[in-house]
Amino acid sequence: MWRQASAAALLALAVGYFYHGNPDLPEQILQYIGLPDFQSSPQSQHSLEQVIAAAWETLITLPTHRWSKVAVGVNACVDVVVSGVGLLQAMAVDPGTGLDHEVLHSKEDLKEAFIHYMERGAAAERFFSDPEAFQRIARSAAEYPGAKLYVGGNAALIGQKLATYPDIMVLLCGPVGPKLHEMLDEQIVVPPESLQETDEFHLILEYKAGEQWGSTRAPQANRFIFSHDVTNGEMSSLETFVASLDEFEPDLVVLSGLHMMEGQGKELWEERLKEAVLAISDIRQDIPIHLELASMTDKEYMSSIMQEVIPIVSSIGLNEQELLFLSQAGDGPHADLDAWKGIPDVGRVSDILLWVLEQHGRSEPSSEADLTRIHFHTLAYHILATVDGYWGNQAAAVMAGARVASSQACGLQFVDAGKVELKAPLEFHSSHGEPREKLSLNPAQPVTVWRRGNVTFHLTVVLVCKEPLRTVGLGDAISAEGLVYSELKAQQIE
Ligand SMILES: *[C@@H]1O[C@H](CO)[C@@H](O)[C@H](O)[C@H]1NC(C)=O
Repeated sequence: MWRQASAAALLALAVGYFYHGNPDLPEQILQYIGLPDFQSSPQSQHSLEQVIAAAWETLITLPTHRWSKVAVGVNACVDVVVSGVGLLQAMAVDPGTGLDHEVLHSKEDLKEAFIHYMERGAAAERFFSDPEAFQRIARSAAEYPGAKLYVGGNAALIGQKLATYPDIMVLLCGPVGPKLHEMLDEQIVVPPESLQETDEFHLILEYKAGEQWGSTRAPQANRFIFSHDVTNGEMSSLETFVASLDEFEPDLVVLSGLHMMEGQGKELWEERLKEAVLAISDIRQDIPIHLELASMTDKEYMSSIMQEVIPIVSSIGLNEQELLFLSQAGDGPHADLDAWKGIPDVGRVSDILLWVLEQHGRSEPSSEADLTRIHFHTLAYHILATVDGYWGNQAAAVMAGARVASSQACGLQFVDAGKVELKAPLEFHSSHGEPREKLSLNPAQPVTVWRRGNVTFHLTVVLVCKEPLRTVGLGDAISAEGLVYSELKAQQIE
């Protein structure tokens, strides 16, 4: 068996080698030597991915008015990435049954919550309450063979992505320890008040599609995140961040880290959220604010964010779990769904996006709310929903976000059509209920546009990486890229 496998691997290597020289060869060779067909998708499907990737390259263009200074805050940390199953085994934890915990108090809680999400293939982020136990786990994680350290925290990740554009000046506020400071792009400015003596470590337990532990099997690759991070948990840097904006004079503010407060308990977040709302309200009215949401579990907290924060920002970025949770917390459309099954239905997603913009946004000019833009991302497709008249270059922006998701998941700078696959349906509806429009995506012009009320939707598909290397920070990269390619339309003074 082993011999056969290694012989097959050698042949595959040789075939791979030939493939570069003559793309027509491998099919024949594979048939001849009787290896399983590793090109699982048919030839026509393969070319569909190439058509879409090529169309992105020609259609994605930067807007006329580009941001020159972007201020990003306030969560930043060092991510320690390890194999979840490997680390738990190294900690002498046995497999068992899954159970979700809103806050982790022990390594048993950690194991149960990890299994709960691993068997669903869903992402989650939790607070670990015991500082000593956390330190012990963090030490095992950092010493675990193959553990990798990365820049972490949505704000730092968005900052890093923006800093790849040499003409954008980036200010980052958040708890920046020595390790993180060393890893940040040189172009990023960190105010002295943000520097601290120790780093905030976050542990990221990754698992692969099909990975097995005991009776648990992961349907898709994903990660489970936890930390004992009080600085980020209290959003301690928010006031410093807002204060530094007067001097920095950004033309765009990107805010993230609200989800970190949830694990601190209601007493703290209730108080701190009020202060956060006051601080955010202090930001000059003419500077757009993008809020990046992340995994939350407390409906009351989500509901408070929806009532108090979402109306005072211009733009939000979120994924399918956060979108459904938003609807459940506010009794919106499809709130009766427990969870998405497979690829979220475009019509249902469209219904919820419209509801958010109409209920909590500025779809009516007389509304007090500022929200006019939602960048929605899920594994298989992205939608940029904007209230008409406020934003430009949406088609390029949504495609740019999908392009970065398609390349970065594979660890590449560009989309390799051979390493990705289309998972989204090319036909869908503008709404789940009637009246609805039947829509389709043309691979050569891969943005589908529809309107409902005063909102325009731009959808593009993701070319999903077949063997993703690193999925952490993908949402941040998508939102950052979408913002770089977005522009505000000049508004008449009211
Ligand atoms: C759309 O905008 C118009 C004014 O431009 C307004 O009268 C109308 O109420 C808005 N519709 C919705 C559904 O918000």
